[in-house]
Amino acid sequence: MKNIYSNIYTFNKKTLKKTIKLLVDENLVGLPTETVYGLAGNAYSKKAVEKIFRLKKRPKKNPLIIHYSNWKDAENDVIFNKNFIKLYKYFCPGPITFVLKKNKSSKIVPQASSNLNTIAIRFPSHKVIRSILKNSNFPLAMPSANLSSRLSPINAFDVFNEFKKKLKIIINSGKSKFGIESTVIDLAERPKILRPGIISVKDIKKILKKNFSKRKTQSRSPGMLKKHYSPGIPVIIGKKPKNDDHAYIVFGKKYRNTKNYFNLSKKADLKEAAANLYKTMRIIKNKGYKKIFVSKIPNRGPGLAINDRLRRASA
Ligand code: TXA
Ligand code: MG
Repeated sequence: MKNIYSNIYTFNKKTLKKTIKLLVDENLVGLPTETVYGLAGNAYSKKAVEKIFRLKKRPKKNPLIIHYSNWKDAENDVIFNKNFIKLYKYFCPGPITFVLKKNKSSKIVPQASSNLNTIAIRFPSHKVIRSILKNSNFPLAMPSANLSSRLSPINAFDVFNEFKKKLKIIINSGKSKFGIESTVIDLAERPKILRPGIISVKDIKKILKKNFSKRKTQSRSPGMLKKHYSPGIPVIIGKKPKNDDHAYIVFGKKYRNTKNYFNLSKKADLKEAAANLYKTMRIIKNKGYKKIFVSKIPNRGPGLAINDRLRRASA
């Protein structure tokens, strides 16, 4: 029988070489990270960057994150500052993205950051992506590997279901550890969270020991869609379904084990709940439910990231 997943590979020396060759030749590949799976292309190649926007059907005004193996590699592309250095030392490599002023000498394709004067950079910790970055002489532009406005993929098969054979390689490294996208923090001006994630505002404030900007304008990233992270069926927050034809996403001990109840974390662990969010929404969709109702999720720590994604999934 023909293997329909013939473009999904495990990671080894041979597939590392093959992946790098594809990236050098300005092609796109599907790669695991500790947050979600990404759609990677050479950030110094206009052709590769254009392919990313085309394949994802991503609006041109929604800038991409550029991934590096360490700060030295990013030095020429962005302007570092004290806040960046503090946060980098503490959290990197890891699930956090920094928006910094672009350096005049930057080689990043301007379209990658939607022609802005800032660039979002990230240093992922996953061993596969780190190995690829260390063995290439360019950084990777890498959005989540899903069609624009859809749920982010957390395993190689989710990526396959989005792009099928349009990618020559998808590296399979099991389930993403965090299962939710990186925290995005704007450091170009006074620090401000643009997208909540596993690393929380509280964690960050502890390091910066400074209050955050209360800037009201530009409260979210440019191009960030109001409707995003959509499972493809309606999501209704804070209400209970009236019958069991509709799925109910819950959190914590007090819920019964009913067929249409999907508990993000029975032990009320917000980190576990974040890791289960996209997986659960996909399961519900695949089971054929027509609507998702969601109970209240505590709005602290990773709960902020969960509620942010749910809010936009329901927009
Ligand atoms: O965890 C992650 O960050 C994943 C993995 C694959 O690394 N990537 C990811 O990329 O989530 P994407 O493209 O799905 O989300 C990028 C976010 C968007 O919200 C975008 O608006 C913001 O980063 N962003 C990128 N460049 C920016 C900039 N210059 N200023 C402000 N926001 C920016
Ligand atoms: Mg995305």
